[in-house]
This record gives sequence, structure tokens and C-alpha cells, in this order.
Amino acid sequence: MKKLFAFIGLAGFLFAGDNCAMCHNGGMAKKLDTLTPAQIEAKMKEYKAGKGNPMMVNVAKGLKEADIKRVAKEFGKK
Ligand code: HEC
Repeated sequence: MKKLFAFIGLAGFLFAGDNCAMCHNGGMAKKLDTLTPAQIEAKMKEYKAGKGNPMMVNVAKGLKEADIKRVAKEFGKK
């Protein structure tokens, strides 16, 4: 049952377009909750400007400033 809920959660991310967990909780990249929301936001702005890991540049370019703020809060250190 837990797996089913995890899947539904993941599907939600995919449809919302902010599918950070797909890679960052899936083992492909490190977890994001070691960074503060401010650090994530700063990184995402660099990626959006085309600097750094091309995978993340793609992700960041698909997000608006407001989305970046939201995902930074959602995935950053609580
Ligand atoms: C397709 C896979 C993928 C997706 C989706 C993805 N990332 Fe990443 N992300 C990476 C990889 C690969 C790296 C670089 C390797 C690493 O730092 O672990 C990275 C690095 C980062 C970093 C830098 C971490 C550091 O300490 O330097 C941040 C911040 C980040 N991602 C945030 C996000 C956010 C926010 C989202 C969702 C909007 C997201 N990522 C979605 C693959 C992905």
C-alpha cells in the first residue's frame, strides 16, 4: 500500500511539472533536504541562467521564479 501512495505522489509531481523527487529521491541525485530553501533557490537561478549540470539547466528553464520559490520551500531543509 505504501508503494501505491508513493506512486500516486510521484505521478502528481510529474503532472505538476516539478518532478524533483523523480531524481532527487530516486537515487540519481542527492537529496535536497540537506540544503536550505535559499541555497536551492540560488542554485536554481544559476541553472536557469544556463550554468552547471545540463539536466538541471533543462529542469530550471521549465520553471517560473514563483515555481522555484515553491519547490525550494517544499524540498529544502525544514
Ligand atoms: C532528471 C533528473 C533531475 C530532476 C527531475 C531534477 N534534478 Fe536537480 N539535479 C540532478 C542532477 C543529476 C544534479 C547534479 C548532481 C547532484 O548534485 O547530485 C542535480 C542537482 C541539483 C541541485 C544542486 C545540488 C547541490 O548541492 O549542488 C539542486 C539545488 C537541484 N538539483 C534542485 C532540483 C529541483 C528543485 C528540482 C525540481 C524542480 C530538480 N532538481 C529536478 C537531476 C535532476
